[in-house]
Amino acid sequence: MRKPLIAGNWKMHGSKSQIQSLIDGIKHGAPHYPHAEILVLPTFVHLDYVHNLLSHTSIQLGAQNLYLGTQGAFTGEVSGCMLTEIGCQYVLVGHSERRTLFHEDLNLVAEKFKAAVTSGLKPILCIGETKDERERGDTERVISDQLQSVIQLAGIEAFREAVIAYEPVWAIGTGLTATPEQAQAVHAFIRQLISQNHIDIANTMRILYGGSMKPDNAASLLAMPDIDGGLIGGASLSAESFLKICAEVPK
Ligand code: PGA
Repeated sequence: MRKPLIAGNWKMHGSKSQIQSLIDGIKHGAPHYPHAEILVLPTFVHLDYVHNLLSHTSIQLGAQNLYLGTQGAFTGEVSGCMLTEIGCQYVLVGHSERRTLFHEDLNLVAEKFKAAVTSGLKPILCIGETKDERERGDTERVISDQLQSVIQLAGIEAFREAVIAYEPVWAIGTGLTATPEQAQAVHAFIRQLISQNHIDIANTMRILYGGSMKPDNAASLLAMPDIDGGLIGGASLSAESFLKICAEVPK
């Protein structure tokens, strides 16, 4: 049984006062949705603040990025053990904005995944194809390359606590969403790739959908057999829309 995960990726958004009211709203609504695991992913500078606001709740905390190793001369970077010390359980790895805007290649993403697991964090590995790649019929090849590079470097056992987020790049922040059938087909493909390496891990691993998930399309996506939750960007910045998505998680 896979407990659905609804994760809010706040990206580079939020002031302390906005965050306080957002968390107040989520805290108020979250107890109505015990069948979903709820996670928020603020910026690095807000992690400690959000951790304090979340004390005595079941809402989980995660970061959007990490660097390799434990400490060192890496100006501007943050390590996995710093994130666990501050109360994070999860970390995003390989988000398409990191791959494109910050030039993170397959090898760096795989190294970050391994670093996350070594620090005791649960990585959420983001993978997905661009519009051109989909139109060329390359979706499965891209997904397979993004996944195999991590399996080769980190080993399949490193996926035991990990989550995968399928995020078609063309759907992120665009208002375009994969249809439930398109998303389900890729999720099933991802699970099958994992099952070629480890059947138990494939059966228990949660695969989230991300890319313009909103209250009005969440129910049909979350109803698909291989979609185990959502990674939500824009709609996670309002407690009302975030909670409406939580309400669509099948019981
Ligand atoms: P979006 O972002 O929901 O705004 O499309 C999703 C993501 O980038 O994780």
